[in-house]
Amino acid sequence: MESVRAGLVGGGRIADLNVIGWLEHPSAEVAAICDIDPQIRDARAEEWDCRPIGSYEDLLADDGIDAVVILTPHHLHAEQAIAALEAGKHVSLQKPPARSMAEYETIGDAARTAEEKQGAKFQVFEDFMFYPPHVLAARLVEEGEIGDVLSVRLVTAGGRMGNGEGWEVDAASQMWRMDPDLCGGGMTTFDHGYHCFNMGRMFVPDPVESVHAYINFMEMGEYLIDVPSIITWRYAGMPRFGSWEVVASLDLDVMSKYYVTDDRMEIRGSKGIIWVNQCCGRLLEEPPVVLYREGEVRSFHRVESDWAASFRDATFDFIDGILDDRPPLQTVDDARETLRFALAAQLSAREHREVAPAEVT
Ligand SMILES: NC(=O)c1ccc[n+]([C@@H]2O[C@H](COP(=O)([O-])OP(=O)(O)OC[C@H]3O[C@@H](n4cnc5c(N)ncnc54)[C@H](O)[C@@H]3O)[C@@H](O)[C@H]2O)c1
Repeated sequence: MESVRAGLVGGGRIADLNVIGWLEHPSAEVAAICDIDPQIRDARAEEWDCRPIGSYEDLLADDGIDAVVILTPHHLHAEQAIAALEAGKHVSLQKPPARSMAEYETIGDAARTAEEKQGAKFQVFEDFMFYPPHVLAARLVEEGEIGDVLSVRLVTAGGRMGNGEGWEVDAASQMWRMDPDLCGGGMTTFDHGYHCFNMGRMFVPDPVESVHAYINFMEMGEYLIDVPSIITWRYAGMPRFGSWEVVASLDLDVMSKYYVTDDRMEIRGSKGIIWVNQCCGRLLEEPPVVLYREGEVRSFHRVESDWAASFRDATFDFIDGILDDRPPLQTVDDARETLRFALAAQLSAREHREVAPAEVT
């Protein structure tokens, strides 16, 4: 295969970033866009110089499309991913891949069958694991810079536009997220949460053994948002913990080109600490990554830190996997464990008790 031809499904808010890798990779192209909204479909087709396709069935039957990139609300993920895999396409599916483990298992089965039969590749698109500051932090941990990891602490704060540049997000793009039947869980703790739970797994080799979540719901204008919330977890093996705290700081200025959200992380080790100071948005004039050990502070100013880079690199991983006939970095099984972790947090909050992810089947 000389070039991988993509059909994007869903040209909504996140498509702006998902398309970048397809436009920039030298051996890939955007062949078509399918969206049930004809205005979005036509506008995206013009913007990306590709064919608009009205029906999903037509897109799957199209021999000019090798890979289907699914960017639709969560209740459509399983049905669209399975249909595409059965049609012999490679599939990149935006996170969270499914609303339940049962639903995910049907996708996983279809992905394994498609791989065996025609070498089709399946990616759950989780870009935080490709965000260059996160990749750098993982390398520093791997190289032993902070010794044994003792805790992973994440904080997400939604704020207000600090530089007047952040994304305006349409109500249509938010409303489906507030319906648990369509979203699968809270729009913050499950939807955005998939990233943060994946980060919770990225720096510690041991699996997560137990999760506890307080998830609160707060009215914000027409929206009911699952903040403030705090989720804590324990890893198997040596005693160590992780936590993720979510707050809505409505009057906090957050500088961002994208969502006005400040995500940051602290990884504490037996002999050092790593701070990742930005992701989607930026707050302070800090270096993206800082390492402290043995009385010295090392600041990594030159690591690429625009959030869009994580989308480019996640897409490149999928395209290169197709070209090199290898699975993407987040495999079918790996994505299943992140989903299980995310669902365990939802269950813990609902039932007000500690939940072992192994219970979520
Ligand atoms: N990786 C990230 O950081 C990130 C960020 C935001 C969203 N997402 C994920 O991306 C996906 C889409 O989110 P969004 O914010 O772009 O949503 P959105 O609501 O803005 O866009 C969804 C699009 O899908 C279209 N659509 C709906 N039903 C369809 C159908 N049957 N066939 C074709 N098109 C259909 C809609 O018309 C809309 O244009 C979700 O899985 C979401 O969780 C990921």
